[in-house]
Amino acid sequence: MIDPTARCPKWLIDHLIGCGGSISFYRYMDLVLNDPENGFYATGRLNIGKDGDFCTSPSLGNDFARLLAVQVVDWLLDLEKSGIKSEFFSIVEIGPGEGTLSRDLILAIVEIAPALISKIELILVELNVGMRKRQEKVVKNLKGINYRWSNVEDLISRPVTGVVIANEVLDAFPVERLVFRENKVFRQGVSLIRINDEYFLEFIDLKPTAEIIKFLKESNTLLKMQFPPKDIGNRWVTEWHCDVPSWFAKLSKILVNGSLLVVDYAMESKRYYNAMRSDGTLVSYRNQEANPYVLKDSGLCDLTAHICIESTINYALTNGWKFIGETRQGQALLALGLSNFLYSLQNTSSNNLSAALNRRESLLRLVDPMGLGDFRWLAFQKNNSDDLILGKRFLEEPIS
Ligand SMILES: C[S@@+](CC[C@H](N)C(=O)[O-])C[C@H]1O[C@@H](n2cnc3c(N)ncnc32)[C@H](O)[C@@H]1O
Repeated sequence: MIDPTARCPKWLIDHLIGCGGSISFYRYMDLVLNDPENGFYATGRLNIGKDGDFCTSPSLGNDFARLLAVQVVDWLLDLEKSGIKSEFFSIVEIGPGEGTLSRDLILAIVEIAPALISKIELILVELNVGMRKRQEKVVKNLKGINYRWSNVEDLISRPVTGVVIANEVLDAFPVERLVFRENKVFRQGVSLIRINDEYFLEFIDLKPTAEIIKFLKESNTLLKMQFPPKDIGNRWVTEWHCDVPSWFAKLSKILVNGSLLVVDYAMESKRYYNAMRSDGTLVSYRNQEANPYVLKDSGLCDLTAHICIESTINYALTNGWKFIGETRQGQALLALGLSNFLYSLQNTSSNNLSAALNRRESLLRLVDPMGLGDFRWLAFQKNNSDDLILGKRFLEEPIS
């Protein structure tokens, strides 16, 4: 049955006709987010923040960056102490969105470890021109700081030492959707359908690729569970983040020594690949509203899929990374001192009350177990020197 909300825009009609009428869901997601002329990210049409399409932790104010800076500074000092020589210590942000995390992280380091600043270089890695333009406006206000934009390929040819951060980026990677139906597996596709004079999109089942077959063969080991789970119904749909293995492989080549922090919507494999979760984790976002109709308003919405914790860790380990540890964002931020920030609000003078209440609300949102507090922090390290021991303050007991 046709979903009446899945009207196909003109640019996508032309594209689909050019491809014979259908494409994989993976290609569809890539196009609607990253197509240079029509993608939601690529055009910079999307807005991140309270008044935009969705909120991320850095978009709620600078407290997320100030707390994260505590861990980043620890790691940079660990690198310095280990005697590793490097022209700069790099802070690489992958997928910087509005650029606020990069900016606020540097400003926080200026405050808490001013002696480090002259040794730091900020590198922003952004796929989409529209987002990069927005980042330029935010980051240009950083005075006396070395910063530049780069891409993974250039960084591979000139690797760096430092800290790599990917906050809410992997969830925006295009995914393969797998459809299990009548004991068979299919690759989900998206097809154009014409009704009277209107074009709509509908899901179709395609033959699985060799990569999907390989994933299925490896899945029990990769996910540490039986896959697909027992007792799935007649139709069970899920996602596979097929670009994550090659992403870890490339990233391991851009970093000589240092750490990688991935923060994202994530779930253990048993929750992710649960028989009851019969339509996966994929949702679309626009104007702060989550929507399960992922073919609606193509190119005008964000699409996001959770990452699976076990497979993400496995892909990192098999691609040159060591695992430092993993926790929920709420725990991590409390360990880095969030309760002190809340406590300090008690001293607010009465003429700053409204700003203090807003800040309190944002701090609580960062640790809300039903929201951003449930995000996962997964940290990895790469080292050529055995002397490098990186701290794990974000995993410690919260500071009271
Ligand atoms: C959900 S936004 C997150 C923005 C930001 N990190 C934040 O937390 O506010 C995803 C960002 O990643 C970018 N992006 C998506 N895929 C990417 C890739 N493969 N490499 C680099 N950036 C990517 C998008 O253009 C966008 O800027």
